[in-house]
Amino acid sequence: MNAQSRTKLNQTPEWAALAEHREKFGRTHLRQLFADAPERGSAYTLRVGDLHIDYSKHLVTDETLRLLRDLAAATDVAGLRDAMFRGEKINTTEDRAVLHTALRAPRGAVIEVDGEDVVPAVHAVLDKMAAFSDRVRAGEWTGHTGKPIKNIVNIGIGGSDLGPAMAYEVLRSFTDRSLTVRFVSNVDGADLHEAVQGLDPAETLFIVASKTFTTIETITNATSARDWLLTELSAGQEAVAKHFVALSTNAEKVADFGIDTANMFEFWDWVGGRYSYDSAIGLSLMIAIGPDRFREMLDGFHLVDEHFRTAPAEENAPLLLGLLGIWYGQFFDAQSHAVLPYSHYLSKFTAYLQQLDMESNGKSVDRDGNPVEWETGPVVWGTPGTNGQHAYYQLIHQGTKIIPADFIGFASPVHDLLPGLIAQHDLLMANFFAQTQALAFGKTPDEVRAEGVPEELVPHKTFRGNHPTTTILAERLTPSVLGQLIALYEHKVFVQGAVWNIDSFDQWGVELGKVLAKKIEPVLTEGTGGEGLDSSTAHLVETYRSLRGR
Ligand code: F6P
Repeated sequence: MNAQSRTKLNQTPEWAALAEHREKFGRTHLRQLFADAPERGSAYTLRVGDLHIDYSKHLVTDETLRLLRDLAAATDVAGLRDAMFRGEKINTTEDRAVLHTALRAPRGAVIEVDGEDVVPAVHAVLDKMAAFSDRVRAGEWTGHTGKPIKNIVNIGIGGSDLGPAMAYEVLRSFTDRSLTVRFVSNVDGADLHEAVQGLDPAETLFIVASKTFTTIETITNATSARDWLLTELSAGQEAVAKHFVALSTNAEKVADFGIDTANMFEFWDWVGGRYSYDSAIGLSLMIAIGPDRFREMLDGFHLVDEHFRTAPAEENAPLLLGLLGIWYGQFFDAQSHAVLPYSHYLSKFTAYLQQLDMESNGKSVDRDGNPVEWETGPVVWGTPGTNGQHAYYQLIHQGTKIIPADFIGFASPVHDLLPGLIAQHDLLMANFFAQTQALAFGKTPDEVRAEGVPEELVPHKTFRGNHPTTTILAERLTPSVLGQLIALYEHKVFVQGAVWNIDSFDQWGVELGKVLAKKIEPVLTEGTGGEGLDSSTAHLVETYRSLRGR
């Protein structure tokens, strides 16, 4: 369906049917849904690659799911998906193709942008990254003084930081432990200051990761890192070539910075920043885990790409997860979505998803620029269990809000330090299963009374339950499984953007703050140019300057 001729989402018969269904659904409880269908727990599951996805603890029936799929059909999610995979310029406001799926396509696949097959170039860069990674890992890439590189510092922000930083944490047990890998993103100098503590500059490689190579935070940090390195080594510009490489689409700016473009790993404007860690942006990760593990991860992504592209709607996991989010956002007024991994290695996973989801779908105009009349992307949040259980789970269990949540867990740990630590895994996973059970089924006042609880405490100890969750379970958190998980979420976000008729691939909302910061900086440093500031900002700036003794 052409976006121009598209009926507004909330004026489609499919939307009306869902609204009517919601009315009838009322306060139907999961206790009832499970009692009505004893097989629900096994019937409402999907298997995608290594991911076992249980959606039985959702406030849905077969009819709900059918109506949601009707909405997806009416909004032509499949048509937009196919256009994305074909390399059409579906990012209309930036006139760009959206082809992160090409980054993980196998050698020999054919994917065209503007009539040119991009797969050979993707693999040429992967090969160059692999050769470089192998040299660093073998101690063959030496610094200015001839010492092998032992420390890798990735400097980037947003998609040029969150992906590799997250994946490095996730795959720590697959990394070469003789290498130190750190990530610097914040323009707060404290970030770089702390990152270089204890590092021998002669053994340190800086990877400057920036799609545009104009991002102020990254260029500022890279400049400071270069100053630190040259000062510490008492060396001139010639040392830069051995200690700095760049990951970018912008060769000109890389050269301007003083990095030899022979040491630049390229990617392309059809890779969105938040979809880029499986491109050259993953170099720090590849050095840490090695090219073979990196390939396993890309194959995991590809497996889910193919699933999303080809699986029928009834079995299509990203479609299902996207539609469930729409069900709660539009018809239950859910404002947020929690992602709660029961793996310490996934400690940065939700932060990564925040950019993926909120930068993609935090939009309030449709593809034609008209204000949308429906809710779009949720607030995404969460931290690993069981820590969250002792912090904010209280609100999820007994607060007034509905917070759909994803629980992600694994059957076997990937660490093997001590038998005792491995045994702890069952305790972790007992919590994992207990939480979704408690959230779904709660504890009725009668059950509380039956425990002899005094009547005045019964309301406090009652759990109403009926909190929807998805459970994603896999055998182990391997590179492939990580790729599968990320692709699952990427395509879920895609589905939601397609239904809402928004451009999930631009990010104009980050621009205004950048422009204003540029204007305010000279006011802070020089005290000039502050005319026209609003009275609040003007007063704050004045207070800041006086606190700094200016
Ligand atoms: O936050 C805006 C943004 O453009 C992100 O989309 C991107 O990931 C990040 O800045 C970093 O951009 P770059 O890789 O060009 O430095």
